[in-house]
Amino acid sequence: MKNGNLAIVDSLINDEYMQLIEAAWSKVGGYARDIVSEYEDDESAPATRAQALAWLRLAAARGVSHHSPVLPGGSALSFLKLARDAYPDFLAGESNGTHLLFSGDGLHIWRGYYSSSNPLYAPLNQAAAAALAERVKEGVPLRVLEIGVGTGGATLAVINALHQVATAPVSYLATDISASLLRSTADKLNQCPAGLIEFNFEPYDFNTEPTRQHVSTGGFDVVLAVNALHNAHNLPASLRMLSSLLKEGGVLITSESICGAGEQVHQEFFLNLLPLPAHRQGCSSRFLSSQDWQHAIGNAGLKSDIAINSIGPELMLLATVSTT
Ligand SMILES: C[S@@+](CC[C@H](N)C(=O)[O-])C[C@H]1O[C@@H](n2cnc3c(N)ncnc32)[C@H](O)[C@@H]1O
Repeated sequence: MKNGNLAIVDSLINDEYMQLIEAAWSKVGGYARDIVSEYEDDESAPATRAQALAWLRLAAARGVSHHSPVLPGGSALSFLKLARDAYPDFLAGESNGTHLLFSGDGLHIWRGYYSSSNPLYAPLNQAAAAALAERVKEGVPLRVLEIGVGTGGATLAVINALHQVATAPVSYLATDISASLLRSTADKLNQCPAGLIEFNFEPYDFNTEPTRQHVSTGGFDVVLAVNALHNAHNLPASLRMLSSLLKEGGVLITSESICGAGEQVHQEFFLNLLPLPAHRQGCSSRFLSSQDWQHAIGNAGLKSDIAINSIGPELMLLATVSTT
């Protein structure tokens, strides 16, 4: 019998999902082959682009199946196309992805990618929502802190789950390092039927001790992080600090994209247009492996129930972390 988190992960990363991943890789591989063919005899890409080029070469060399499923239209395909079109200028050192991905069409596609309407990404949101729903007790109020709320893709999945199970008030503090992203996400979330949920919004950088009123008050039943904590400069330190914001018996729930050693994550095709964060310099991926997560949680002196997908390469981790 599978434990709670493993049952959740395996219900989401199933055969149908693996078909989608194969379809995504078929696209990424094809695009990568087209891009690197321009660089076969020409090593003119600047050194700052070497890592992205090496990633593309690896992706281009992946085996090709002529029976691969076709990636359906939607935000994932749009994101891959946006990146494909951006690579020539990017590899020439004439642009970087920050402006491309965080304004105009790019931002619109970014929002769509991280929403649960994107079947390639939805499991991360749904896993967190399912794990959080399991913490809800009949008639008992709940205090939630979400970090790295971003576009609110995970938050919407959580709201839907809470509407199903909550029978007492839920205080939900949504935070992100980006005040502007948080403002636009607040506008979106404030339009949703609130039911028993009361939202607050506050900028917060999880690399630092909280100083602002709402976060620093602590006493949360759940700290939630969906695909955000891999950005922590010092993961054990952030985990320790976040767990200090929990009330006794509280938990930190995180769902994350993961990358096993020597593997690749399809999201990197577009994320590589952004600079690799300083704490991941020299690593082959901006995403951590399940082993990295286990070490970080252990180094933070915390206990955890960690699950990763049973089929396919390392794709998704769901962890419930606690001090006891
Ligand atoms: C890939 S997005 C996560 C997806 C998000 N759950 C959503 O539904 O859009 C990562 C988010 O983490 C935020 N982030 C990155 N570093 C952070 C930090 N140090 N503190 C707080 N948030 C951070 C980013 O601004 C971004 O919104």
